[in-house]
Amino acid sequence: MKDTFSVIHARKSVRSFTGAPVSRADLDKIIRAGMAAPTAVNMQPWSFIVVTDRKKLEELAEGLPYAKMLFKADAAIIVCTEPDKAHGKSKDMAVIDASLAGENILLAIEALGLGGVWTAAYPYEDRMKHASAVLGIPQEVIPLNVIAIGVPAGQDKPKDKYNKEKIHWEQW
Ligand SMILES: Cc1cc2nc3c(=O)[nH]c(=O)nc-3n(C[C@H](O)[C@H](O)[C@H](O)COP(=O)(O)O)c2cc1C
Repeated sequence: MKDTFSVIHARKSVRSFTGAPVSRADLDKIIRAGMAAPTAVNMQPWSFIVVTDRKKLEELAEGLPYAKMLFKADAAIIVCTEPDKAHGKSKDMAVIDASLAGENILLAIEALGLGGVWTAAYPYEDRMKHASAVLGIPQEVIPLNVIAIGVPAGQDKPKDKYNKEKIHWEQW
């Protein structure tokens, strides 16, 4: 198992997959990592849909313009969030909490030697509508993203985003 810093720096968006299966045990570990994320006032407004059905993955891909890698992915996790269940019933809080769960999921995918990419549903009305229709998501629940998951084919490399000009010590 890689140490935390290795996982953080090795994580990258993976958009090409070998087609090999991802085990249910790994998907379970990934979801547990998502639920370990911090959440304002511990409200946990999130929920997670795990999709492994080939037909459903294809249906999702058809209506999501930048998620065509789902045609080759073995699984997808859709991080959902519900403003009514978030601190102060705030949509912003709901989205922040679910985003943190999403990043934990991406890190867990990397830690397991798998590949994944966050594809956007929120804030695009058409993409949220499509994901909701395919997956039967209730109206009050926001599908934040569709995270494609598979065994990486090996083309995708982490980007070095370190930029010291973005750091302000003590004051801007
Ligand atoms: C909010 C959000 C939306 C994104 N939407 C998409 C998407 O629809 N399709 C896609 O291929 N990648 C998407 N990405 C992945 C980004 O393109 C990727 O994170 C970025 O290029 C940096 O590359 P890295 O993840 O390899 O570090 C999204 C990432 C975020 C955080």
